[in-house]
Amino acid sequence: MPPEDENTALYVDEDVSFSVRRQQEIPTPADDEILIETQFSGTNPADLKHATLLGIYPAVLGYDFCGTVLKAPTSSTFQPGDLVAGYTPTGINRPPKYGTHQRYLACPEDMVFPVPAALPLHHAASLTVVAMTAADALYNIFNLPLPHEHDNQAKTTKSLLIWGASSSVGLCALQLARVSGVHPIIVTASPERHSLLQELGATRCFDYKSSSVISDIKATVRDSQQGPLTCGFDAVGSHKGGVSSAQLVAECCSEDATLVSVVVQSDLKFKMPIATPNRNVVIKVQDVPFPITIPARPADYQRAWRALTWAVENYGVKFRLPSVDVFEGTAEEAMEELKAIADGGRFGKLALKHPLQ
Ligand SMILES: NC(=O)c1ccc[n+]([C@@H]2O[C@H](COP(=O)([O-])OP(=O)(O)OC[C@H]3O[C@@H](n4cnc5c(N)ncnc54)[C@H](OP(=O)(O)O)[C@@H]3O)[C@@H](O)[C@H]2O)c1
Repeated sequence: MPPEDENTALYVDEDVSFSVRRQQEIPTPADDEILIETQFSGTNPADLKHATLLGIYPAVLGYDFCGTVLKAPTSSTFQPGDLVAGYTPTGINRPPKYGTHQRYLACPEDMVFPVPAALPLHHAASLTVVAMTAADALYNIFNLPLPHEHDNQAKTTKSLLIWGASSSVGLCALQLARVSGVHPIIVTASPERHSLLQELGATRCFDYKSSSVISDIKATVRDSQQGPLTCGFDAVGSHKGGVSSAQLVAECCSEDATLVSVVVQSDLKFKMPIATPNRNVVIKVQDVPFPITIPARPADYQRAWRALTWAVENYGVKFRLPSVDVFEGTAEEAMEELKAIADGGRFGKLALKHPLQ
């Protein structure tokens, strides 16, 4: 077993205070879990927001990872030395072993995939949360055909608006929608992203900061004579300046459109995808005195996982994360990076290289 003085973790305590903890216990995996030495942990806005907004603390932070198998169940398809990636369960009372921003972690075997040679390790570490969230929206809420179910020549009868298509969830949704035959795919993003988004499958791009963005999108839809937008995806969940990205999506789509937002909306027309529909997720939100359970949808998990598997197998050819930076440095500096990501987001992913100093 590895020595405990080597396990450094990014931690949130019972007072929702964030800190670095060194010399943490080496996780003990359950019978259906794998013990992994983390090579890279992928960062997400959720790493901090799940503590501050959903009551998930105390906890070791982080969900996404790529690493080396140290120990696997005897019946497992994985063996010590295998390179794997995946993500770990969420919810209140989350055991410390599931935090991925630490040198050693445990992960249920059904949340792990083998990393093929064409998938760089820091990309593998950044993929699962965002690809599974996009896949849950597309294949379980919009009910699109999976990439390998879709006949390459055919277009679906569905049209899609992705608001914030350069968020990591949005980038995954765009590329998956393209291979599932969606047309047109209209997106919003900052102008400097438009050429990339067109390359990845966007039919038309609009600047979400433009004062005429709504009327411009409506005019384009009307002039195209392809019918109203039937699927609307808020892939950013922004409420900055009192403007809700979800409501902007609703304004652009038809009255009977299927509407999705990556964060909870009080408007019941919106459904929320979730990265981990395999298990019940228990959260605590402000002003609600009791914990809330988001029920598991095991069949939906399998369907989204098939889309993730397609993305992994086609990585670098038909699907990619266009920008993944690597952070190397101290654990304290890594914590500052997580705070910046939760505060404002950044274009592209950031993977933390382990061991952190
Ligand atoms: N429900 C779930 O299970 C789940 C899972 C994962 C993520 N999420 C949520 O999904 C959201 C996106 O996460 P992410 O990791 O994909 O984000 P991200 O990669 O950090 O998104 C950053 C990008 O968001 C874009 N953006 C920021 N404000 C915007 C606005 N007002 N309108 C349009 N685009 C805007 C920016 O695009 P430009 O560069 O074009 O300006 C920026 O590059 C977050 O709220 C996250 O908490 C939910």
